[in-house]
Amino acid sequence: MSSSTVKTIQDTLKAWKSLVFPTFKVNDLLYFFLKAGLAVSTFALVSLFFYLSLSHPSFNSSSGYDYKTFKHLVQQRTIADASAGAEPTNVSHILFGIGGSAQTWNTRRHYTELWWKPNVTRGYVWLESEPPEKENWPETSLPYKVSANTSSFKYTCWYGSRSAIRIARIVKESFELGLDNVRWFVMGDDDTVFFTDNLVTVLAKYDHNQMYYIGGNSESVEQNVIHSYTMAYGGGGFAISYPLAAELVKILDGCIDRYSHFYGSDQRIQGCISEIGVQVTEEPGFHQVDIRGSPYGLLAGHPVAPLVSLHHLDYVEPIFPNMTREDSVKKLVITYKTDPGRILQQSYCYDLRRNWSVSVSWGYSVQLYPSLMTAKKLETAFRTFQTWRTWSNDPFTFNTRPMSENPCERPLVFFLDRVESVDGGETRGSYVRYVDVSQKECDREEYVPALAVQYVNVSASHFLSDLWKKAPRRQCCEVINGGDGVDSAVYVKIRSCQASESLTPP
Ligand SMILES: *[C@@H]1O[C@H](CO)[C@@H](O)[C@H](O)[C@H]1NC(C)=O
Ligand SMILES: *[C@@H]1O[C@H](CO)[C@@H](O)[C@H](O)[C@H]1NC(C)=O
Ligand SMILES: *[C@@H]1O[C@H](CO)[C@@H](O)[C@H](O)[C@H]1NC(C)=O
Ligand SMILES: *[C@@H]1O[C@H](CO)[C@@H](O)[C@H](O)[C@H]1NC(C)=O
Ligand SMILES: *[C@@H]1O[C@H](CO)[C@@H](O)[C@H](O)[C@H]1NC(C)=O
Ligand SMILES: *[C@@H]1O[C@H](CO)[C@@H](O)[C@H](O)[C@H]1NC(C)=O
Repeated sequence: MSSSTVKTIQDTLKAWKSLVFPTFKVNDLLYFFLKAGLAVSTFALVSLFFYLSLSHPSFNSSSGYDYKTFKHLVQQRTIADASAGAEPTNVSHILFGIGGSAQTWNTRRHYTELWWKPNVTRGYVWLESEPPEKENWPETSLPYKVSANTSSFKYTCWYGSRSAIRIARIVKESFELGLDNVRWFVMGDDDTVFFTDNLVTVLAKYDHNQMYYIGGNSESVEQNVIHSYTMAYGGGGFAISYPLAAELVKILDGCIDRYSHFYGSDQRIQGCISEIGVQVTEEPGFHQVDIRGSPYGLLAGHPVAPLVSLHHLDYVEPIFPNMTREDSVKKLVITYKTDPGRILQQSYCYDLRRNWSVSVSWGYSVQLYPSLMTAKKLETAFRTFQTWRTWSNDPFTFNTRPMSENPCERPLVFFLDRVESVDGGETRGSYVRYVDVSQKECDREEYVPALAVQYVNVSASHFLSDLWKKAPRRQCCEVINGGDGVDSAVYVKIRSCQASESLTPP
């Protein structure tokens, strides 16, 4: 048996990837060229990256727009009924506008169908034309609408796609439907996975009668430099409150022409919102996932904030080892449903009988260190990934730490096996040791008892969404067994911290 590490997960997944996902070849090829240091001019490289980034379907050029005549509908609707303002925001107050494509809906719809609840969630996927499956549109899919003709708009970004105009206008076309009781317009891509309970939790914190623009930026600094730091990235999804949408639709079309040189739809939206003077409100739970490689470090080191969205899951390795991308994200979503507010939430504790540190990313992974690690180190994400555009090791918009090559400097890693709800509003989950037989394990004496651990079982009471209205604080945990002899299971109980409790080594 060998030590389990994220590095080895990465390597294993890389091997599966090349077998199972041949589409990655283009990127691998690019990576090879970069590594080989071919004397390609910066200009050519940049254009290649841009070209590759076009593989995102919602930004794809597609011929044959099937648009109705462009109409200016005048909206008489007043600002979202202030009288209803006292009622807490729930899912029915959100109107989703998803940027899709008729050609690729069938290969992408599994992402939306993971979170779409027929007759509960409201919204449409917007397509460039009537889809081939028009006659028997899947019942599990959200309903579609065909976007208006945008051929009269200017688009001058040489490396981008005109579909950015159509996608940018979804907020306007959604607004102009004039649906009742909409407080928030939430935009996303057809490969965005929303965690809608948490989206509601986040939006409910804000007064929907004010002009809000809420989302997150890119994980990769190079993306923020090229596009914008001050923008909510479209793949991670963003929310626009009704009053802001009402102002935005008045200027959007003219504004789209003013920013014809921009690449994406989300940039156009931000450019237009900046004319109103509204700033993006960043919420750390929106994830564009502008990374390559294994998302392990990002998910296992999630910030203390509700998980709102994940994106680009076709472009990173599967979330769980030894599972397909699709099955992995399904597993995460099923787990999320057992305790929505807690998914990926961190809890750290020491076992002072053995001088161990345990780090839990609830519903996903546990790391066990046979030493007392500082909280600062534990909360820093392992860099199991590269940047989106150039596959570089840095920089990111958050701090990372490398995964050491030395097995004695890496934690033992456990992945969620299953989780169940038990009576009294509690969940119990078991996390199974991830072992890669191709990897050497640490042969130091202090690792022996840790290497015997096969399971970490974690119990926690349900995470009440009201907790997210308080100042964010990581929850505490305790290791409730062991220390005498060799244990194959470690039991961890997550609980709220006591008033003057801290993760401080003795
Ligand atoms: C969009 O409008 C342009 C100009 O009015 C027209 O030539 C084109 O055929 C229209 N496209 C579709 C798909 O209707
Ligand atoms: C959401 O709030 C509205 C009030 O605006 C209420 O009528 C509706 O029943 C609520 N829906 C859910 C699913 O809680
Ligand atoms: C949604 O509502 C419609 C009309 O009320 C109903 O016919 C349909 O069965 C419902 N679908 C689901 C999945 O509940
Ligand atoms: C991967 O899955 C296969 C088939 O389900 C199983 O036989 C194998 O043990 C798994 N490998 C790991 C490392 O979990
Ligand atoms: C834990 O660490 C402390 C401080 O380094 C040391 O004094 C103690 O002996 C260690 N306990 C065990 C069980 O290793
Ligand atoms: C711990 O998890 C393992 C694996 O799922 C399970 O067999 C065992 O019963 C669990 N123990 C407890 C006390 O829940």
